[in-house]
Amino acid sequence: MNATRGKLLEHAVDGIREYDNPTPGWWHLLFWGTIIFSAVYGAFFHFSEFAWDERDTHTREQSAYYARLFGALGDLEGDDATIAGLMSEEKWLKVGHSVYARNCAQCHGAEGGGINGPNMTDDAYKNVKTLADVYKIVSEGVVEKGMPAWNNRLQKNERVVVAAFVASLRGKAAAGGKPPEGEVIAPFPKGTMPAKVSEAK
Ligand code: HEC
Repeated sequence: MNATRGKLLEHAVDGIREYDNPTPGWWHLLFWGTIIFSAVYGAFFHFSEFAWDERDTHTREQSAYYARLFGALGDLEGDDATIAGLMSEEKWLKVGHSVYARNCAQCHGAEGGGINGPNMTDDAYKNVKTLADVYKIVSEGVVEKGMPAWNNRLQKNERVVVAAFVASLRGKAAAGGKPPEGEVIAPFPKGTMPAKVSEAK
């Protein structure tokens, strides 16, 4: 008998004999360990109500990010200067875009070309003459015409930021958009953000 080779077994096939070399303990541990792990993992992530997925993680991180951004914004006003300032920075338009995608795209179209709501990418408006009007319509709606009021559903900062995003769609001429409705209005003013807000990460 050889210590490293194990015991020579009795049986022989065509004169060939073999050593008894059982798989080592660590191998069995790994083998059963991975099976048990997969069962626990599968049960937890597929059947438990405490499971999370990458979408939840993304939403949580995004909310935390927006909370930080909104903290930097302080309390926004829905006036021309504030909205024009937000429109000058890509970062805030992105925040507005996410509010838009969740709440507005189903009626105004993902690209803003309009579905049952009007096209936001032309120069004609039905209820809007100024940037402040965009905020006012978002907040109060045109309820009898099918535009909901958002003042009870979105926070004020969200309404101001989404108003800036919607106004920024003007002139983008979304492909397949609805024909213009209302009257062509004067161009929106340009603006800048206060530095303290502009530097927020
Ligand atoms: C249920 C459908 C619906 C949803 C959701 C919706 N809208 Fe509207 N929206 C409309 C309709 C319909 C009008 C046109 C009202 C009218 O005829 O005066 C409108 C008009 C507007 C206008 C004025 C456009 C103009 O030409 O005067 C703005 C601005 C606007 N919506 C922004 C938004 C924003 C921002 C959101 C998301 C927070 C949103 N809407 C969500 C249906 C919707």
